[in-house]
Amino acid sequence: MTPTCQTPSAQAEGDVVPVTLMVENAGISLDRVADLSDIDRAAIRALSLAVYPPEVAAAWPGRHLEWARGEWCVRVWGPEGSLASYTGIILRQSSWDGRSARVGGIGGVMTHPAARGRGHAVHGIRRAIEVFREHGGVAFALLVCEPGLLGYYARLGWKEFAGRLVVRQHGEPADFTFNRVMVHDVEAAGPTSGTIDLMGPPW
Ligand SMILES: CC(C)(COP(=O)(O)OP(=O)(O)OC[C@H]1O[C@@H](n2cnc3c(N)ncnc32)[C@H](O)[C@@H]1OP(=O)(O)O)[C@@H](O)C(=O)NCCC(=O)NCCS
Repeated sequence: MTPTCQTPSAQAEGDVVPVTLMVENAGISLDRVADLSDIDRAAIRALSLAVYPPEVAAAWPGRHLEWARGEWCVRVWGPEGSLASYTGIILRQSSWDGRSARVGGIGGVMTHPAARGRGHAVHGIRRAIEVFREHGGVAFALLVCEPGLLGYYARLGWKEFAGRLVVRQHGEPADFTFNRVMVHDVEAAGPTSGTIDLMGPPW
């Protein structure tokens, strides 16, 4: 178990994004998690271990929650060619105040401790928002984070959702209060109040 990072080893969940695997400029790629090679997965595991050493993961309060796994991922490589940063992507048919809304989720954002402060995560997060825009039909994006990261994401155009977030835990509806919730406009303005029901586990 890795804090707020669901190591993308399982099958994709939910809808399929009609984007084919592509390697982009300057060491950034968008891939379907199910298509990753064993070498890719090993590199992501190594990154996850560097970010969340076992003793940190074992003490993480969120380890008892059920989390959704990313279906897609944006990976950013450093100049030396090693995996520097990872952003998981998930699409989920959800609802806002009872109206159906497709939500683009990002989760599992992590950058290797030795590669931080170089804009790698910003690069990955911005690419994820582009993916939601390219995909079509995504109303808004959503992430959950610790309070200390609210300012970081706010600088990237995210705003705090102050309403109620309903998720599923082992199939049962539950209010999500573990972390703060932030939204980003995509085709619609990200709501800052009301009730969002993710109709599944958080990410
Ligand atoms: C948060 C994280 C992904 C940022 O990665 P990064 O590639 O270094 O980020 P960038 O280079 O794009 O941006 C660096 C900025 O993030 C800020 N930042 C990083 N971690 C932070 C934290 N825990 N609280 C507040 N700000 C933080 C830095 O202060 C820096 O701000 P500045 O540009 O004003 O100096 C990385 O620190 C990390 O992996 N942390 C552990 C996992 C985690 O908390 N992930 C987020 C889950 S929502």
